[in-house]
Amino acid sequence: MPQSRKIIIDTDPGQDDAVAILLALGSSELEIVGITAVAGNVPLKLTQNNARKICELAGRPDIKVYAGAIRPLTRELVTAEEVHGKTGLNGPQLPEPTMPLQEQYAVDFIVETLMREESGTITLCPLGPLTNIALALIREPRIAPRIKEIVLMGGGFFEGGNVTPAAEFNIYVDPQAADLVFKSGIPIVMMPLDVTHKALTSSKRIQAFRQLGTKVGTATAEMLEFFERYDEEKYGTDGGPLHDPCVIAYLLKPELFKGRRCNVSVETASELTMGMTVIDWWGVTKREKNATVMRDIDHDGFFALLVERLGRLN
Ligand code: BDR
Ligand code: CA
Repeated sequence: MPQSRKIIIDTDPGQDDAVAILLALGSSELEIVGITAVAGNVPLKLTQNNARKICELAGRPDIKVYAGAIRPLTRELVTAEEVHGKTGLNGPQLPEPTMPLQEQYAVDFIVETLMREESGTITLCPLGPLTNIALALIREPRIAPRIKEIVLMGGGFFEGGNVTPAAEFNIYVDPQAADLVFKSGIPIVMMPLDVTHKALTSSKRIQAFRQLGTKVGTATAEMLEFFERYDEEKYGTDGGPLHDPCVIAYLLKPELFKGRRCNVSVETASELTMGMTVIDWWGVTKREKNATVMRDIDHDGFFALLVERLGRLN
């Protein structure tokens, strides 16, 4: 069997973050070296707690979960309880976790892991604001060339924004951190709203999770039923976009996605367009191509993968 790919999931669960974590846990091709929590959808106290709830739901209390940044680099924290509910994980009744939160600060864990492991073997998977990743790069710039790849959910261009007309939530919450990451020279694959808005849940797709007849399947169905209601109303669609699992699905089956290499620049000055990801899709500038930006997804293949992999968990 080929060696599994080592990943660090940096996350702010969030129901869609939770499904991304479950997808990784159900996939033997991936080894989760650690999960680092960041403030985003809800405050850090809840995101680190939610990450542990999900590991326990999947029967994996051995996964190491670390708490990171309590707030963005320079701006006040903006949260999204209107989407995710008060706990960030509204929907199922999940027990309080008993597995420990690691004592080490998430940023130190990221730095230490990258400096210890063989260079080019660790992939970072940010599913929330990029604060922890930016802090790690500031703390120890020598980690940058050691990172295999950053595959992240964030930004949007043709679809516009979801938290302001111009900005997507993860980038809007910490635009300074995102700016630093996009300027780092690290290979980046970006899953913007342009692709995640094509990965819609639907009652039929949610039913497929429920029909797994497992704890994970039922909890996933309950999470997604709660999660989609806000976006269904906002966008008038049957189902809501399942953003963060696109990151993990890409690691497992990159052929599900189509995109191109472009320059991505982050707006950090204008309040009107703060956090906008300006994507030079048509190559109209000479700015360096710094990310592979995905725009299309085989959504049936994506949901089939999700159901199959979550089906491997109890
Ligand atoms: C992103 O924001 C969060 O609400 C989701 O978890 C996802 O990471 C989508 O804009
Ligand atoms: Ca998220």
